[in-house]
Amino acid sequence: MNKERIARIDNNEEVKELLLPHCRLKYGEIWEDSIRGHKVGCLDATNQNDIMRLMGNNKATLAIQDPPYNVIVGNSNTSSLGKASLEDYIEWSKQWVQNTVRILKSDAHFYIWLGADQKEGFQPLPDFMIMMREFEELKTRSFVTMRNQRGYGTQKNWMAVRQELLYYLKGSPDFETQYTEIPKILRGYYKEVNGEVKENLERSKSNTIRPGNVWVDVQQVFYRMEENVPGCYAQKPLKAIERIILSSSRKGDLIVDFLAHSGTTLLAAEKLKRKCLTMDIDPIFAEITIRRLERLRRTGKVGWQFMSPFPEAKVKLEIGNNEKRKAKKSLQGTS
Ligand SMILES: C[S@@+](CC[C@H](N)C(=O)[O-])C[C@H]1O[C@@H](n2cnc3c(N)ncnc32)[C@H](O)[C@@H]1O
Repeated sequence: MNKERIARIDNNEEVKELLLPHCRLKYGEIWEDSIRGHKVGCLDATNQNDIMRLMGNNKATLAIQDPPYNVIVGNSNTSSLGKASLEDYIEWSKQWVQNTVRILKSDAHFYIWLGADQKEGFQPLPDFMIMMREFEELKTRSFVTMRNQRGYGTQKNWMAVRQELLYYLKGSPDFETQYTEIPKILRGYYKEVNGEVKENLERSKSNTIRPGNVWVDVQQVFYRMEENVPGCYAQKPLKAIERIILSSSRKGDLIVDFLAHSGTTLLAAEKLKRKCLTMDIDPIFAEITIRRLERLRRTGKVGWQFMSPFPEAKVKLEIGNNEKRKAKKSLQGTS
């Protein structure tokens, strides 16, 4: 059993140095998948040339973008991610949004995961929303909140468990209703149908409820779950991405994600038989994205749980104390 694991990668120069020799892409390069035609680039989402190189003449039905929220942004001129002011963050966001809008079909869906820091005027969410008004071809469609519990939270405030998801439309694409696994329990809402008074459960298409715009049924990824990708600090749950893909695209459609990280959008696209063009500016996350797809095809597994995606690199684990203790315990007797 391989015990080597990796710390959060983005802010750990030592770990980065050890992993970089194992990454097949350098900045500017694109990996092409011979089976389904997915592409993974080590590219810059704000660089129009990079986007054109990834896209060619293709246009996408669906974009799912998940930028870093805590006002830490990257571009091809910086070797590592650095802090930016709110103004710079919004300017940076405008560039990747513009690049996304350009490559969307005339009827397309555009989803953006974003954060609201309650200690910093709820930014960047409010200024980002205002910036989005500049894109006249986009219509606001929904504002989803996903329940996202990380740890036990404070006792002195409402526990922060929200993860925002903005949904915009270009044109009028189709939308496929989705259902959760939560059974319908509310009765009532009687209505006359063909002369007969029917209760809502008799009338409905499903015995379970729809997610609506508050998603309480998606488990946040943590190290005990198979889909966990060690080293990735901002991984979105597959279930959430699959929900978006199922509602807003059809089999064979083209999906883009220019901020791949752990490659969740690519993985969900593969599982649901869509084609995905994706990128990350960091060669390590681009490599993890490719490896995650290869691992799925090889083993059927959707992540590494607490094992390293880079077993060949001898990199020590440095995760939170709680996780460290538990991981250590679960490894006792296996060395
Ligand atoms: C919040 S994470 C995305 C998480 C992803 N949805 C997942 O489930 O794993 C943001 C990613 O954007 C990448 N990034 C930051 N600036 C970028 C840029 N200019 N171009 C491309 N990727 C960038 C970071 O390296 C990071 O991996």
